[in-house]
Amino acid sequence: MSVVIAGGHGRVALLTTRLLTTRGLPVTGIIRRPEQAATVRAAGAQPAVTDLAHATPHHLAHLLTGAQAVLFAAGAGRGNAPGQADPVDHDAALTLADATQLAGVRRFVMLSAMGADPAIHYPPDPLVETFLQAKGRADQDLLSRPALDCTVLRPAWFRDGPGTGRVHLAEHTGPGEIDRADVAAVLADLLTTPATAPRVLELVSGTVPVHEAVARTALRLVADH
Ligand SMILES: NC(=O)c1ccc[n+]([C@@H]2O[C@H](COP(=O)([O-])OP(=O)(O)OC[C@H]3O[C@@H](n4cnc5c(N)ncnc54)[C@H](OP(=O)(O)O)[C@@H]3O)[C@@H](O)[C@H]2O)c1
Repeated sequence: MSVVIAGGHGRVALLTTRLLTTRGLPVTGIIRRPEQAATVRAAGAQPAVTDLAHATPHHLAHLLTGAQAVLFAAGAGRGNAPGQADPVDHDAALTLADATQLAGVRRFVMLSAMGADPAIHYPPDPLVETFLQAKGRADQDLLSRPALDCTVLRPAWFRDGPGTGRVHLAEHTGPGEIDRADVAAVLADLLTTPATAPRVLELVSGTVPVHEAVARTALRLVADH
């Protein structure tokens, strides 16, 4: 099974890449700066240089052909003006989804954010409001596509700790925080667990080992279906 990660030089993306390549899964990391290629290679992946904000679905579909799973892990950070369209967190995610369908790949995992909601009103921080609205609109669109087996992961606020290997993964977790390393471990398992589609899952630090948390969630969702 091979995986394509959009935003391949991101901190979560590189951690996920290392986990997948250590398991022997080939990974392609899509980056927009050629100078990041060496880091992506050092993590065990094949870099592909393309700016997601300007790529067409047909161009991206070439990069996805033959893959079995796609992860959108790119993000504009705090780079968007409040209230403006979001070329990465929303538009690029949907372009990648179009490309995924064109390439005939079903498994799509979206790295979203807790609180993502097209209608969220968050006056303390207009940039965060714009980000969460863009993510929420993208998530809604992705989950409505029958051609994709899409899981939307909405982690809490990130920390940079080493990871505890223990999480709380559920449709509603309540507030919390989570180390990027634990987000990466959950993403690596979700990519190979399509039974968690089509669902939104929240993620915070917790007490259940990652493999068990993902497996248990998949079993519960299949039983509920
Ligand atoms: N921060 C939080 O607490 C939090 C919580 C929940 C969810 N999230 C989500 O998780 C995502 C990943 O987090 P992270 O910490 O790994 O972020 P990160 O280190 O900032 O990585 C984001 C990556 O996206 C890439 N990117 C942005 N625009 C691109 C484009 N047009 N084409 C190709 N690549 C592009 C960036 O590349 P460049 O190096 O070229 O800029 C960067 O490598 C965030 O972006 C956010 O959506 C964050």
